[in-house]
Amino acid sequence: MTSAAANGLPPTVYLDHAATSWPKPDAVVAAVHDALTRFGGNPGRGAYRMAMDTSRALFEARESCARLLGVTDSENLIFTPSCTFGCNLMLKGVLRPGDRVVAGGMEHNAVARPLSKLAVAGVELVVVPADATGYVDPDDIERAVRAAPTRAVVCMHASNVCGTIQPVGDMADIAHENGAIMLVDGAQAAGHLEVDIPALGADAYAVSGHKGMLGPQGIGLLYLSPDLDVDTLVEGGTGGGSSAIAAMPAERPDRYEAGTHNVPGALGLGAAAAYLLAKGQEIRAEEMRLVRLLRDGLEAIRDVHVLGPGSGVERTPVVSFVHESIEGDRIAFELDRRYGIACRSGLHCAPWAHDSLGTLVSGAVRFGVGFGNTHDDISLLLEGLAEVVG
Ligand code: ALA
Repeated sequence: MTSAAANGLPPTVYLDHAATSWPKPDAVVAAVHDALTRFGGNPGRGAYRMAMDTSRALFEARESCARLLGVTDSENLIFTPSCTFGCNLMLKGVLRPGDRVVAGGMEHNAVARPLSKLAVAGVELVVVPADATGYVDPDDIERAVRAAPTRAVVCMHASNVCGTIQPVGDMADIAHENGAIMLVDGAQAAGHLEVDIPALGADAYAVSGHKGMLGPQGIGLLYLSPDLDVDTLVEGGTGGGSSAIAAMPAERPDRYEAGTHNVPGALGLGAAAAYLLAKGQEIRAEEMRLVRLLRDGLEAIRDVHVLGPGSGVERTPVVSFVHESIEGDRIAFELDRRYGIACRSGLHCAPWAHDSLGTLVSGAVRFGVGFGNTHDDISLLLEGLAEVVG
């Protein structure tokens, strides 16, 4: 349990890692501190020592992230301001009016909203429904892709609502066999799962820096396969290429990194990736142990219906439930007020997913387990919840 007993408040049990991880590893905090104290130059914009040192630190951070994600050439890994930005870039940079796109039925608004806007602009959007556990069957994706010439398949790697892992590797095979590309929203997977992006076959894969990756907020990554032609979303000054030329440079990552970098975010994320390379397996094993405990405990509480994959099915550490008669917002409020338990209720920016799960009206209470959570956290939660709904 993380102590926050100041002002007589009960201790905070943080179970909202699916929204953002907290606390961060000490190495991440130290890297952000270093960025603000030692690496104060503008990377790629000066030949004086501090600017050069900052460029080098940024390069090393990108290399650490690339190593964690299986990316050989780190130039194909773009720093973005968020996973949402990465999703927008991979969708709007590729899809054109007249294109057809097949999307999974669990997508977060980071994908659903840009797709909806593209649909208004003339992209044909086909949404493949998920089953009751939030799983999108690759056979259904295949049928949809084969129905008409398709430019892209888009799917999240793991659900932010219920932890279901989607078979994005199989979907990538289907896409490629049918002349399409595979675009993946990896917001809830990177860090929580061992992710090797090229091995999955993704042509583009967007990563959140501040969730399972354990980095600071305001930073993300977008992998682009070397051959994928993606238009820019933002133009401006870059660290590489000639300033005299009106067009954005062709070289990656500069082509997609207009404007001064978020150096504290990037260095923090680099440190987080290095930390995960060393400790990720241990962290993931503990997350799964706690999720089993949590899921089994929730199932034992009367009138609680757990969403998502059944027990024993591989998943990410996100567990949601609906109560038969008590509103989710009320339950989340009481968990915080009485026990200092932080969780998220409602629709989790994912109306498509809640529609698939049959919870669009009720919403759900979601626990995002992650780095730093303990057996005691889950025990306190289960005891508190039993009282709140008892
Ligand atoms: N997308 C984040 C969530 O699911 C914010 O909570």
